[in-house]
Amino acid sequence: MTAHTHRAEEIDLQLHRPHSARMYDYLLGGRTNYPVDREAALRATEGWPALPRAARLNRAFLHRAVHHLVNDVGIRQFLDIGTGIPTSPNLHEVAQYHHPGARVVYVDNDPIVLAHARALLTSTPEGRTAYVDGDLRRPADILEASELAETLDLSEPVALTIIATVHFVPDHYDPYGAVRTLIDALPVGSHLLLSHATPDFTPEAISRAVAAYHAGGIEAQVRSHAEILPFFDGLELLPPGLTLITDWRPQHTDIGDDVANGDVSFYGALARKN
Ligand SMILES: C[S@@+](CC[C@H](N)C(=O)[O-])C[C@H]1O[C@@H](n2cnc3c(N)ncnc32)[C@H](O)[C@@H]1O
Repeated sequence: MTAHTHRAEEIDLQLHRPHSARMYDYLLGGRTNYPVDREAALRATEGWPALPRAARLNRAFLHRAVHHLVNDVGIRQFLDIGTGIPTSPNLHEVAQYHHPGARVVYVDNDPIVLAHARALLTSTPEGRTAYVDGDLRRPADILEASELAETLDLSEPVALTIIATVHFVPDHYDPYGAVRTLIDALPVGSHLLLSHATPDFTPEAISRAVAAYHAGGIEAQVRSHAEILPFFDGLELLPPGLTLITDWRPQHTDIGDDVANGDVSFYGALARKN
């Protein structure tokens, strides 16, 4: 395990404005958030009342997909970009439950995630976890981080997981190029797992939620099915393709009945690098 010993009091948490990671933590029922985050999350939820449920459905998608990647695909290594505030079970806990030797590198650009990174570094003795304070908009820096080379064997397949994060990277930052740069650095047999918010089903509600993020100074750009597909260019999309996250290898237990498409409003897919 690569140890980071940043203490929260050494890090500027920027409490004067809301942060997406802390808003998401609040939406999931976590405690690592501040009044400014709760206010912004409540405003976003007024605009799109299904937002807290969608956040939980997104988390369930992540858990199902990691289970599938470890058990059915045989993936042993993960590079997770936009990790978020630790929320148990974290990705490494799911992966190492199924394969104790699994290795995970977490990346986020938010200071509060860095402050709480210790909770992400609770690896099994057989496995390994590391945290990189990095930014999806600067993929080369992520790839050059010493923690990445020390933790992952880049001659073996890696699952690049970018969950509920790319909608915080508007087109002018070239998120397509950033994802491509990361995938290009990984060997054949690697996978891309991505989920992304969409306005396709309930455009007005999603637009109100996005406006609440913008009002808090958070950049965000939701994308249509056609706009999300190119993130997988050059890769083999695996069944069932790019679908609503609730339609992706669904399990009744974590989805429940009667969830309307507009209340999900997240697409997700898994693709393989051949
Ligand atoms: C909604 S949370 C998703 C957390 C987790 N992936 C999940 O799905 O449960 C989005 C995360 O992306 C992070 N993020 C946003 N923009 C980023 C960027 N450019 N680089 C790295 N992380 C970013 C935020 O700090 C936040 O922690």
